[in-house]
Amino acid sequence: MGRKTFVVANWKMNGSYKANAEWLQQALPALRTTRAACDTAVCAPNVYLPQMIEGLLTSTTMVGAQNCSEHDQGAFTGEVSAQMLADIGCDLVILGHSERRTLFGETDSMVADKVKRAFENGIMPIVCVGETLTEREEGRTIEVVSRQLKAVLDTAGIAPFIGGALAYEPVWAIGTGKSASPEDAQAVHAALRDVLAQVDAQAADAVRILYGGSVKANNAKALFAQKDIDGALVGGASLKAQDFLAICECAECN
Ligand code: 13P
Repeated sequence: MGRKTFVVANWKMNGSYKANAEWLQQALPALRTTRAACDTAVCAPNVYLPQMIEGLLTSTTMVGAQNCSEHDQGAFTGEVSAQMLADIGCDLVILGHSERRTLFGETDSMVADKVKRAFENGIMPIVCVGETLTEREEGRTIEVVSRQLKAVLDTAGIAPFIGGALAYEPVWAIGTGKSASPEDAQAVHAALRDVLAQVDAQAADAVRILYGGSVKANNAKALFAQKDIDGALVGGASLKAQDFLAICECAECN
């Protein structure tokens, strides 16, 4: 089935009012033109979400956060809930990013609870899975990413993935300049789609599975040409508007 390519910027903990305004100024003309072949989103730090939501109003580009709480409200100092993200007009949230899992101790079950809560509040999750270098060298890639995905499916079902997306991000490829080869990434994406299909074959066919990890304009085209690679979650290269747009253009000639 035809899954529309989805290119998502993950700015991580980068940006400023001034830098974001410049990014918007540079990207908006291109983002405003209807992109028949490509959906786009920008996931910014929470404090800049209102700036990005307002700045992107005249485009179809969605705005996302990079994490949310598994609770709606209460005594959780420093946390932001999916309900609050919905309240300010946010569309998406990245959940289970490897930096959250490794640096902030997020477990499979916490990620699953967050996905459920986000979906219940109308915030579409982009759920990240990925193996470390050691796990890959031990030949455990499929086992690890399947376990991470199944934890979410058991708690939240497949519906959140249809409006949102699944992202395969090998940890060893993030910010290192080392991207998985298109063929290796395709093999993992196909295995992930099989796991989704065990829940609902028809729905699995509609889920967009993004690749993340050192995606640039010079490797995006080959990645997007793979059958089960439906877009990209872009870190470093999304910080410059021109680089992000160049990746989006790779979807258009797909
Ligand atoms: P880089 O594109 O900088 O490797 O980051 C990937 C990533 O973590 C996106 O979520």
